[in-house]
Amino acid sequence: SPSDNGSGGGRSGALSPAPITEDVQKIEVNPPKGTRDFPPEDMRLRNWLFNNFREVSRLYGFEEVDFPVLESEALFIRKAGEEIRDQLYCFEDRGNRRVALRPELTPSLARLVIQKGKSLSLPLKWFTIGQCWRYERMTRGRRREHYQWNMDIIGVDDVTAEAELLSSIVTFFKRLGITAADVGFKVSSRKVLQEVLKCYSIPESLFGKVCIIIDKIEKIPVEDIKKELISVGVTKEAIEELLQVLSMKSLTKLEEILGDAGEAVADLRQLFSLAEKFGYSDWIQFDASIVRGLAYYTGIVFEGFDRKGKLRAVCGGGRYDRLFSTFGADDVPACGFGFGDAVIVELLKEKGLIPELGMQVENIVCALDLDLQGAAAMVATILREKGLSVDLVLESKPLKWVFKRAVRINAERLILVGKSEWQRGMVGVKILSTGEQYEVKLDELK
Ligand code: HAM
Repeated sequence: SPSDNGSGGGRSGALSPAPITEDVQKIEVNPPKGTRDFPPEDMRLRNWLFNNFREVSRLYGFEEVDFPVLESEALFIRKAGEEIRDQLYCFEDRGNRRVALRPELTPSLARLVIQKGKSLSLPLKWFTIGQCWRYERMTRGRRREHYQWNMDIIGVDDVTAEAELLSSIVTFFKRLGITAADVGFKVSSRKVLQEVLKCYSIPESLFGKVCIIIDKIEKIPVEDIKKELISVGVTKEAIEELLQVLSMKSLTKLEEILGDAGEAVADLRQLFSLAEKFGYSDWIQFDASIVRGLAYYTGIVFEGFDRKGKLRAVCGGGRYDRLFSTFGADDVPACGFGFGDAVIVELLKEKGLIPELGMQVENIVCALDLDLQGAAAMVATILREKGLSVDLVLESKPLKWVFKRAVRINAERLILVGKSEWQRGMVGVKILSTGEQYEVKLDELK
């Protein structure tokens, strides 16, 4: 800004406007619809959030992995009619390969596990934070690119894995100051649907499709859901029972209908019992209507929701024991979750929990004379080699400007390099919080 160009001499930073010629058009300064820039203040918030993702993953003993944002399109094409497929950013590259910007991270994770094969020792506990792209209709907390934190456990077929994952999300919420009164998890199992379908002899092959149709239950009228189910071959009686079961919010009632012999009830009972031991029972509730919109889930599924019901799902995940075979590999039991960076920020705003994150540079070093610029650079180097951060004033500026800048960057110390002190091998130090001022020998500066 013009005020940054102090009057203290040196070269002026002011840019003269480029002449506009006929064939130059002013660019659109906003990023493409649904995408974001991250100017420093937004980047600080993002880093803070990601540091919390990383720290929780570390607490649970997970290793970080990463994959390319661009993948082969085939990785994301499943036959079940998922919404995510219609939202794919896909194109042909210059080598005529069909590629896509990843809409999620799970297929890439599976690809890497398959690629590494036997060299991996199971179970794997992997986490990743990556940008995902979906051509979405934009609503609050839903955009066309978002970052997702994923934690996945590969190689454990027991519900202990899901219980551990839920525990890690609860730990994350608690770190941010979010309580069980603010958010909860709705939990169910796809095995509930599977058991109902089995009762009506509906073939396994329809399972993915049925799940995807049922996932739309809150978005489109029930009559349309019924029509869609009939069109894929589910009988009227089966539909009625499905809809009845899906409305259940009590595990005991579910048990009355499905009996206690099936895996659905057993898994859910075990999960709720583990939740008690972990200490997060008050965060989770059974809700049979949760099936999730991705075809590959096979067992426990869950979604994090805000209790005021204002926002879309904060996070979601579940078990996907049969994804690997759809890629032509042997199946390995797996479960995980995705946690986006957008809805959580909306929630934090609602609760007034966004932290104040200023810029933080420990020292500001300033030469009081233009010919002491080299001396100031020496001082900056000494401090940086000691691991301290330094904002070196690169132009000759009036002291008033330097003080203003020190406040803006939250500096703790101002180090002034003046002629007479420098000749004595000293620099001036001012502690900005107290105003305390002293001189210190260069070799005693720390
Ligand atoms: P998902 O439910 O599609 O699951 O996405 C997970 C989370 O990503 C959502 O709950 C939300 O926080 C965030 N998210 C998704 N789409 C958007 C969007 N357009 N804008 C902002 N945030 C969004 C999956 O993607 C699974 N792959 C998760 C998983 C990992 N399951 C097992 N492992």
